[in-house]
Amino acid sequence: MKLDLPRYTERFGATSLHGVQRVFELDSGFDDGREGRSISETIRRVSNEEISEIERRMAIVIPIKGERLKLLEGVLSGVPHDCLTIIISNSPRQPVDRYKLERDALEQFNRFVGRNALILHQSDPGLSDALREVGYTGLFDQNGVVRSGKAEGMVIGMLLAKMAGKEYVGFIDADNYVPGAVNEYVKIFASGIAMSKSPYTMVRISWIYKPKMSETGLYFSKWGRVSETTNQYLNSLISYYTGFETEVMRTGNSGEHCMSIRLAELLSYSSGYSIEPYEVVNILEEFGGIIPTVHQDVMDKGVEVMQVETRNPHFHEDKGDDHLREMTVASLGCIYHSKICPPKLREKILEDLRNKGMLAQGEEPQEMPKITPFNVVDMRHLARVLTKATSFAHTE
Ligand code: GDP
Ligand code: CO
Repeated sequence: MKLDLPRYTERFGATSLHGVQRVFELDSGFDDGREGRSISETIRRVSNEEISEIERRMAIVIPIKGERLKLLEGVLSGVPHDCLTIIISNSPRQPVDRYKLERDALEQFNRFVGRNALILHQSDPGLSDALREVGYTGLFDQNGVVRSGKAEGMVIGMLLAKMAGKEYVGFIDADNYVPGAVNEYVKIFASGIAMSKSPYTMVRISWIYKPKMSETGLYFSKWGRVSETTNQYLNSLISYYTGFETEVMRTGNSGEHCMSIRLAELLSYSSGYSIEPYEVVNILEEFGGIIPTVHQDVMDKGVEVMQVETRNPHFHEDKGDDHLREMTVASLGCIYHSKICPPKLREKILEDLRNKGMLAQGEEPQEMPKITPFNVVDMRHLARVLTKATSFAHTE
């Protein structure tokens, strides 16, 4: 892959937030005696050797809740062979056992491609028992089972990725219509990691277009309605501390992103759909230099957040207006409730949500439960006790 180096960077304590980088070439070939890594001062070539080396050390987590199987099958086919695929499902098991259908589809797929994959249902009581046994209970609801929610699924995926000895974990939604786009996301993840200078790294996908159907045909819009608002407030938060307005954040709601496990295991996560923007907020809270941190090594080495614009457009399921409202309130809510959110910004968020009719007068966005870092989990212990989870399957 050939992509440009970050053109500008916002530095916030130990955190570097890089501006969007573009892809020039999806596949830039093998090394075999070719020109070196940097073709110029501004473009970086990441060879196929480098990419596959990183893919071998990467798990791809696919959170899924009741998506159409055809879409899941397409996504599976787009994930590079050497990655470990991990599906975390929250699909209904009655009247039809949708989870079983997903597992069957995965098993059938793997019979043909011989790939390594894991699948698990997040509300499996055996999983909750295992988590209780290792003392990691931040994912539980009042009944002591793992809550419903996308973030909850993603955290379980990260636990399994670490348990399997992977160094990187990437996320790809299951409702993507274009397998080729899925493949590009993973190549971008690997290229970003190859370019990063820190072991504490995050790579977020910025979609070139999010096409919509209109009366006159396909319209290639640049921005989703939710992400535009989320990015605006993330940027305001950054500007408040730096004193300079910025547009650096473009990927506040990007479900497609990856992290080094070394970074992932230190973060706190916000429940449900607020997970993606809160990852950025939490990085600023922890490593932005505003609040002291116990992780001196991270402060020394720095955290890098990269954003890379795809070549493929993003086509996914249209989930309707209620979903947009839920996502917007959850996204702005996690900024609103952050301990580093200045009072002025808080007021603006309230006003905006009320003007949009998403909150009633006098109503505040609900504070989402937080999930504490998983670096405390004893992985060997977890691997031993996870055998209780009956939905857990490993296919090869
Ligand atoms: P959007 O694309 O950001 O608008 O959100 P989606 O509704 O498409 O959700 C993103 C991905 O998360 C999809 O693959 C969903 O099936 C999946 N998802 C949503 N809720 C849950 C959940 O509670 N648990 C799990 N494991 N996955 C979920
Ligand atoms: Co979607």
